[in-house]
Amino acid sequence: MREGDLDAREAALADITREAAELARRLYSDPQGVKLKGKQDYITAADGEVERLIVGRIGERFPQDAVLGEEGGAQGKSDAIWIIDPIDGTANFAHRIPHFSISIGFLSGGDPKLGTIAAPMYGEIFRARRGRGAFCNERRMKVTEPADMNRAIIELGWSVRRPARAYTALLERVLGSGATFLRAGSGALGMAYVADGRTHGYCELHINAWDVAAGVLLVEEAGGWVNDFFAGDALAQGNPVLACAPGLKEALVGLTGVGQANDKLERRIQ
Ligand code: IPD
Ligand code: CA
Repeated sequence: MREGDLDAREAALADITREAAELARRLYSDPQGVKLKGKQDYITAADGEVERLIVGRIGERFPQDAVLGEEGGAQGKSDAIWIIDPIDGTANFAHRIPHFSISIGFLSGGDPKLGTIAAPMYGEIFRARRGRGAFCNERRMKVTEPADMNRAIIELGWSVRRPARAYTALLERVLGSGATFLRAGSGALGMAYVADGRTHGYCELHINAWDVAAGVLLVEEAGGWVNDFFAGDALAQGNPVLACAPGLKEALVGLTGVGQANDKLERRIQ
């Protein structure tokens, strides 16, 4: 994709993210239509409303691009694809807990080129463009290396898509290393926090592409390491994810088993 085409998408993405964040903020005070799609898997009217807004705006400006949304599925066929999670952390949103986000990633040729993650209730928008760094609002972000494992904070995402015992075993291994853990309920925001050096790693044994399409780019552009998340059929099926400060890579790959056979960032650098 030509730089000019990416410039147009970057500018549109900034506008769309702001508009979607305002809508989600308005809807937050009184969540409507709270339902379960499955065990511990929430949906609200806001998920559909925010996704329709984002997909509609993309369609007005870039009708030739494909779209993959958590709620609406895949639309169109193109090498240029927008991947959208309208409300990530829906369980939090449904219970009026402000830790939720909106994630929009843009991939061209299978590689994430643009990404934004908005945290509407915190007034923060995280964004990145491939090769141009990652920012929280206007501040440049950088991952942080903990002095040692005894000071490390690793977020461990959880869903019913993997057996409980796989999660508790992972938790036990991470705690055994001296690190502590977090499970704050928005995978996208978890990735943004690694990029901003608030935590040192994010791991989840299975996550969907819409949760991390923007986050992978944010972490890489902030100097972090991420496993080859987009390998295989990740857009349709999801994959495990591990993102961290580079100094923790070896330890966390060993502890989590994620990222052993692939190393996209290093491949790109070589
Ligand atoms: C979930 C959240 C959660 C993560 C799950 C996701 P949703 O997305 O990101 O933190 O652990 O894997 O499914 O359902 O809130 O959009
Ligand atoms: Ca999600």
